[in-house]
Amino acid sequence: MEIAVFGTGYVGLVTGVCFAEMGYNVTCFDIDGDKITALSEGNCPIYEPGLEEMLKRNLAEGRLYFTNESTNACRKADYIFIAVGTPENEDGSANLGYLDAAVASIGKSLDRDGVIVIKSTVPVGTNERVRKQLEAIIPSELRVSVVSNPEFLREGSGILDTFHADRIVIGADDHEAGRAVAKLYEPFGRPVIQTDVRSAELIKYASNAFLATKISFINEIANLCEHTGANIEDVAKGMGMDHRIGSQFLNAGIGYGGSCFPKDTKALEKLTEYYDYDFKILRSVIEVNSRQKQQLFHKAKELFGSLQGKRVAVLGIAFKPHTDDIREAPAVELITSLLGEQADISVYDPAASGKVSDLFGSKLYYAENADTAIKGADAVFIMTEWPQITEYDLGRYPLLMRQPIIFDGRNCYGLEEAETAGLTYFSIGRKAVNVHDTLKSLKR
Ligand code: UDX
Repeated sequence: MEIAVFGTGYVGLVTGVCFAEMGYNVTCFDIDGDKITALSEGNCPIYEPGLEEMLKRNLAEGRLYFTNESTNACRKADYIFIAVGTPENEDGSANLGYLDAAVASIGKSLDRDGVIVIKSTVPVGTNERVRKQLEAIIPSELRVSVVSNPEFLREGSGILDTFHADRIVIGADDHEAGRAVAKLYEPFGRPVIQTDVRSAELIKYASNAFLATKISFINEIANLCEHTGANIEDVAKGMGMDHRIGSQFLNAGIGYGGSCFPKDTKALEKLTEYYDYDFKILRSVIEVNSRQKQQLFHKAKELFGSLQGKRVAVLGIAFKPHTDDIREAPAVELITSLLGEQADISVYDPAASGKVSDLFGSKLYYAENADTAIKGADAVFIMTEWPQITEYDLGRYPLLMRQPIIFDGRNCYGLEEAETAGLTYFSIGRKAVNVHDTLKSLKR
């Protein structure tokens, strides 16, 4: 069985490598020649645990190829997967430019009947449009089917999520093509749900929007906890033990970031506008998230008044641990606000420093570790729950900082341990610790 995968971004690469691992012959296509060269040599351009080893093994065993010639990719392919990015347009809608380009080059290269499988996250109706686009380009004697097969991979656990997927969604109006794609997934041994094309397209957006809703909801409850004196961890635990609610995605924090939730919720909102449907909950989820991203900044402003000239350290920049991805990361917004206040900022992230420096350059000091970042600081902001931060010795904060004031956006530490360590500790949805003395000394 020959598979082609268009796009070697996060989804395309993980998909291609995992199909090769299952024994299929896979050719991955990308327009970026340098990336193709690097991948052909076994160098993985993204930070994803286990991916590089799997890439190297499948290259060595001759099941995996990379090319920037679309005809090479399409020549023998029984299935052509499209996994190109669909980034956000300025108005929030999905930008389908890469998809259209991929479809155009597949159309030119196709010389036999084809099954095109769209993995890219695309608005409802796109698969149908792609089929029409292809039919307009390919020779009239060829038959093409377009199947929707959205992915649900999380960054940092993409391989695990592929081999242990909760479900594989296959949307096809051509049932034969749908069954053929389902067969392709048989070796994975995961549950398959087959639907029509439009439902499959919507499952992806609905799933991401629902998870985003869970996060915004628990963040609202956390804010309410701060008003009422309840503790969000106990509240979330008590809610999550009800199986109908479930305990996952109930971690309160400083909002969701990354390449999917922010983009997909906005794209879904745009889609509802197109259909003139007012999806009220979705609008609130987005609004709550953007407000939540500013939570720690507002807390710091409330405490200090002005942050001008204050030495602050930001621990963790990536939108979540075990990735170097800083897209839509709450930390990036915080840093921008802190720069606006003319604070003196040092940052530490175990993986994302390079990307942060591409964005902020010499405006920040890039520390090698948490110790160096917090030295002499007036305040620390914890933005990502990396193990290097959650397992950090709390005694080092008072030892190294000018004053141990911590704003923790990920509830990394217990309230008692923070109190015992002498920290002035603000977290999310929990009572602040050791605040009175700090307030007195700041007023002095
Ligand atoms: C997400 C979906 O989980 C995945 O199915 C989809 O294919 C792509 O989008 P990803 O963006 O990699 O995956 O990360 P995820 O682990 O879902 O976290 C997204 C964001 O939500 C992070 O910023 C994370 O910190 C935040 N989050 C998650 C919370 O704030 N609280 C939670 O309880 C869970």
